[in-house]
Amino acid sequence: MLLSFTSAICLSVLSVARAAAVPKGFVTTKGTEFELDGKPFRFVGANSYWLPLLITDSDVHSTFEQMRDAGVKVVRTWGFNAINGTELAGALESNLTYYQVWDSSDWIVNDGPQGLQRLDKVVETAGQYDIKLIVTFTNNWVGYGGSDLYLAWIAGNPATHDIFFTDPKIVASYQRYVTTIVERYKNSPNIFAWELMNEARCLSDTYPSGPACVPGTETITKWYEQQSDFVRNKHFVSDPFHMITTGGEGQFFWNDPGLASDYNFDGQAGEDFNREQSLSNIDFAVYHMYPESWESQLLSSATATQDIEAWGLDWITNHSIGVNSNFSLLKDIAHASIVAKQAKKPLILEEFGVTNKSAIYPSWVQRALDTEHSIMPWQFGALGLTEDGGNRLIKYADQVLDGASPNDGLAIYKNNTDIWDIFTKAAKIQISRSK
Ligand SMILES: *[C@@H]1O[C@H](CO)[C@@H](O)[C@H](O)[C@H]1NC(C)=O
Ligand SMILES: *[C@@H]1O[C@H](CO)[C@@H](O)[C@H](O)[C@H]1NC(C)=O
Ligand SMILES: *[C@@H]1O[C@H](CO)[C@@H](O)[C@H](O)[C@H]1NC(C)=O
Ligand SMILES: *[C@@H]1O[C@H](CO)[C@@H](O)[C@H](O)[C@H]1NC(C)=O
Ligand SMILES: *[C@@H]1O[C@H](CO)[C@@H](O)[C@H](O)[C@H]1NC(C)=O
Ligand SMILES: *[C@@H]1O[C@H](CO)[C@@H](O)[C@H](O)[C@H]1NC(C)=O
Repeated sequence: MLLSFTSAICLSVLSVARAAAVPKGFVTTKGTEFELDGKPFRFVGANSYWLPLLITDSDVHSTFEQMRDAGVKVVRTWGFNAINGTELAGALESNLTYYQVWDSSDWIVNDGPQGLQRLDKVVETAGQYDIKLIVTFTNNWVGYGGSDLYLAWIAGNPATHDIFFTDPKIVASYQRYVTTIVERYKNSPNIFAWELMNEARCLSDTYPSGPACVPGTETITKWYEQQSDFVRNKHFVSDPFHMITTGGEGQFFWNDPGLASDYNFDGQAGEDFNREQSLSNIDFAVYHMYPESWESQLLSSATATQDIEAWGLDWITNHSIGVNSNFSLLKDIAHASIVAKQAKKPLILEEFGVTNKSAIYPSWVQRALDTEHSIMPWQFGALGLTEDGGNRLIKYADQVLDGASPNDGLAIYKNNTDIWDIFTKAAKIQISRSK
């Protein structure tokens, strides 16, 4: 009891000290707002996991230039690119970017020109275009070598994915990687924030979830707490300033009978959006939105455009109130009181996508602006890159074709004027609100 009381005081003193001393050019938080050099900082951002995978510096510059011209202020990219030892020969041949090679339970870092030096270039170039980066430490999914590699090599292909969040050897290995990245960029104002994991869930592509990761176990919340404390406290002396967030999809854990079997509200995914925001070293909240591909009972029988649109509008509103003000919808009183005491924090809709973009994006973007939070569509489309057809695959079938950055069906290119304009207009509004 005494211990937690003391540490609570320490933490609040430290966070006040951090806000007061934050260096010029570092983004920080003030209540529900981001703040940059004493002014509110609201933005339209972009997702571009492939930026550090580009081979030429001129393509990196060109991408940031196109982003700047679109009014983009914050870009989210992967701070991980891991391969299995068996993939090394192919990676060398095709010039694939890789930062970690797994050939035993002890991965090896690649800080050479085909490794972290490419991320260095991205971090450095971002600043030249007045853009800041959210850098993610690992992936829940298999893409670009995420948590499944830790599971395969350290836990020897365990029965369930959630071992990732609890196995001490895996946690130590993840923290060794986090330390590598944080140490490298701790002084850079070009880092907007660190992100613990892309879309943490109890299950992954390879492994199912287990009984230790079910509604109520708060396995992922505890992991977020442990890792955000690690980043902040371990680096307190040298890097107290960068913000930290989860990277989660924002699923809720509500005790709402009407939503009792809805994956996005019943805690099955493993996240507990409301509770995560009460963690002292999670500086702001993020959520994602893909109603077409997420299991949702609300959409199972009706997938007309207007239903998808309406589902998204509710999802945005539900997150923008930060906490559900109807506490009877929350799991229990203890939980509700934690949420009630939580400091309100800034919010970003940091990934979203839909097929019928021209019909749906205007109202989603408007709702986010009306509820005063920043947005980052998935994903930015760059044109005119020099890397072109016939070159290497980036990985997992993504490719730069005819100078266009990878397209998973959701890329937004400038030649798609209607969609492009929705975001450039919103960016102008956000910039005008950042004064
Ligand atoms: C690989 O990429 C580097 C830039 O990181 C470039 O200098 C080199 O020419 C490329 N090699 C091949 C074979 O494409
Ligand atoms: C990587 O190697 C491990 C160990 O051989 C294997 O279990 C796993 O399936 C491989 N993963 C990928 C993504 O290639
Ligand atoms: C929250 O989401 C639920 C389920 O989609 C919806 O019924 C409710 O109206 C939403 N609440 C708000 C305030 O949007
Ligand atoms: C809160 O939600 C519960 C369960 O859905 C409902 O019975 C109650 O009327 C709601 N209270 C308010 C104030 O909306
Ligand atoms: C997109 O939505 C609009 C408005 O509901 C509809 O008229 C149009 O047919 C939809 N397009 C596609 C490709 O589904
Ligand atoms: C826009 O560019 C993309 C990528 O090169 C291409 O696939 C698409 O056909 C272009 N669309 C138009 C309308 O020109």
